[in-house]
Amino acid sequence: MLKKVIYRLLFFGLITSFFGCELKHYSKDATSELSEEALYRPYFHFTPQKNWMNDPNGMFYLNGKYHLFFQHYPDSNVWGPMHWGHAESSDMVKWEEKPIALYPDSLGYIFSGSAVVDYNNTSGFGVEGKTPIVAIFTHHDMEKEKAQQIDVETQSIAYSLDEGITWEKYEGNPVIENPNIRDFRDPKVFWHEATEKWIMVLAAHNRVMIYGSPNLKDWEYFSEFGLDVGNHDGVWECPDLFQLPIEGTDSFKYVMLVSNSRNEPNSGSATQYFVGDFDGKSFQMDTAFAQELEQKGNFWMDFGKDNYAGVTWHNTESKSGEKYLIGWMSNWEYATKVPTYAWRSSMTIARKLSLKPNDETYRLISEPVDAYQSYAKEKTRLAEIKIKKSKTLISEDILPSEIDFSFSEPKQGSTIFSLVAQNGNQIDFGYNADTNRFFIDRQASGITDFHPSFANKISTAPRLASEKPIEGKVFIDKTSVEIFWDGGLTTMSEIFFTKQPIEKLTLSSSIEELTLHHFNHNKLNIK
Ligand code: FRU
Repeated sequence: MLKKVIYRLLFFGLITSFFGCELKHYSKDATSELSEEALYRPYFHFTPQKNWMNDPNGMFYLNGKYHLFFQHYPDSNVWGPMHWGHAESSDMVKWEEKPIALYPDSLGYIFSGSAVVDYNNTSGFGVEGKTPIVAIFTHHDMEKEKAQQIDVETQSIAYSLDEGITWEKYEGNPVIENPNIRDFRDPKVFWHEATEKWIMVLAAHNRVMIYGSPNLKDWEYFSEFGLDVGNHDGVWECPDLFQLPIEGTDSFKYVMLVSNSRNEPNSGSATQYFVGDFDGKSFQMDTAFAQELEQKGNFWMDFGKDNYAGVTWHNTESKSGEKYLIGWMSNWEYATKVPTYAWRSSMTIARKLSLKPNDETYRLISEPVDAYQSYAKEKTRLAEIKIKKSKTLISEDILPSEIDFSFSEPKQGSTIFSLVAQNGNQIDFGYNADTNRFFIDRQASGITDFHPSFANKISTAPRLASEKPIEGKVFIDKTSVEIFWDGGLTTMSEIFFTKQPIEKLTLSSSIEELTLHHFNHNKLNIK
C-alpha cells in the first residue's frame, strides 16, 4: 500500500514538474496569467492540436465535407519529417482534426501536394464501385539531401477509398522521377475537360513545369512557365493553376499562383499571381497583363507577411465559378520561432477568389467565404460618424469578430485602427493618404523579439482602387488580423502575440474631421 502511495506521489510529482516546466517556459515570454491555450489558441483559425504545421495540402470537397490536409510534424513544434495531417469541415469555417493521413516512408518525407476525386476511376484504384481519392505529392529523400545529391525530390501518389481517412501508397511510386532539378516539388493537379487529361503544375526551382496524364500514373511533360517573369528572390513553390470568372462578364481567365519571395512585397514568404490562358498544354500570360507586370512590378495575392503556400480546393466552386483557397498563416522567416509551444501556426480563413477587370487587364480579388455570415451576430451599427482625432469603436468583448467599415478618402495623413490589449500592446492598421498605401504595424504588439524581422518594419500595400470611399472588412482573432480592403482588391494578413488579450478597437485620424460612413461590428459565434 505504502509503495503504491509513494509511486503515486512520484508520478504526480513528475507530471506537475513536467507541466511546471512548460508553464515556466511560457510565462517567461508572456506576462499574462492566462495559459497559452487561452491566450493564443485561435477561435476560428485551424491549428493542429499538437506540434508543427505548415502548408495546406490536398484540399478536396466530397459528400458535404471540405477536406484539408497539411504539412505536419506530429513529434515536435518545429519542422521535421513531414507527414500529411488531416482535418474536415462542413463549411470551411469550423474544423475537426482527423488521424494523420500520410506518413514518411522509404522514399522520403511527404512534402506538399494535392488530391483529386477520380470520379471516372481513370487511375483504376477504385474497387467495388468506390470512387478513389488520389493524392499527388512530393517525396523528399533526406538521405539524398544529406549526401548533397540533386535528385532529392520525386512525385508520388496514394489513394483513399474512404473519403480521405486511410490511404494506400501506389506500389509504382514515384510516378515522376527527378530530371536533375534540386527543387522539384508541390504537384497541384486538376482535370482539363477539353483535352480529357489530368494536368499537373509543379514548382521546378525557378519556374513551373506542366505535365499531363490520362490516369494520374503516367505523366508526360508538356511545357514550362515563368523563367523570365515575376519575382525570383526565392525558390518557386506551391504553384496552382485554375480558371476564374471575370466579374461582370461571362468570361473566364486562368490564374497561376506561385509562392516564393524573400524581399517583396514586405519581406519573406508571399504568393504572386499571373493571369492568362491555358490551351491544355501551356500557360500564356495575357499580353496586357504581361506589360503591366513589366511596367509596374509583381502582382501579389496578399501583401501581409502571413499568407503563404495557399492553394485552391478541388471539386468545388461557388455558383458563379469562384474558387476557394486557404493559406498557411506564417512566414518562413520566423515560423519556427513564434511564441506558441504546444502547436505552431494556423491557417488563414478560407477565401473566395475571383477576377476583376482593370482597364485592359485583371486583378485577383480575395474575399472571406460566405459561410462566416452564418456565425455573425450583430453588435454595433454606426453610420455617418464624424471622427475628430480619435474614437473608441469597440470597448469590450471584442473577440472573435468581423468588422466592416467605409470612410471618405482623406487627402492627407493617416487613418489608424488600433486593436488594443489590456496592457496597452497594440496592432495598428489603416490607410496612409500621403503614400496612398494601406499598412499593418505590429511593432508594439507584444512579443516580437523572437525574430528580428517579425516587427522591424511596418508592412504596406498599394491602394489599387480609385473609387472612393475606402472600404474594409477585417477578421480579428486572438493572434491574427486579416484585412480585405476595397472589396478584396488589396488583402493583408498578419499574426501577432499580445501579452494580454485584446479588449478594444479605436480609430484615430490625423485630419481635422474624418467621416466614417458606416461601421459594423459582428461577433463571430465560433468557439
Ligand atoms: C512551402 C514548402 C514546400 C514544401 C513544404 C515542405 O512552404 O517549402 O515547397 O513541399 O514546404 O514542408
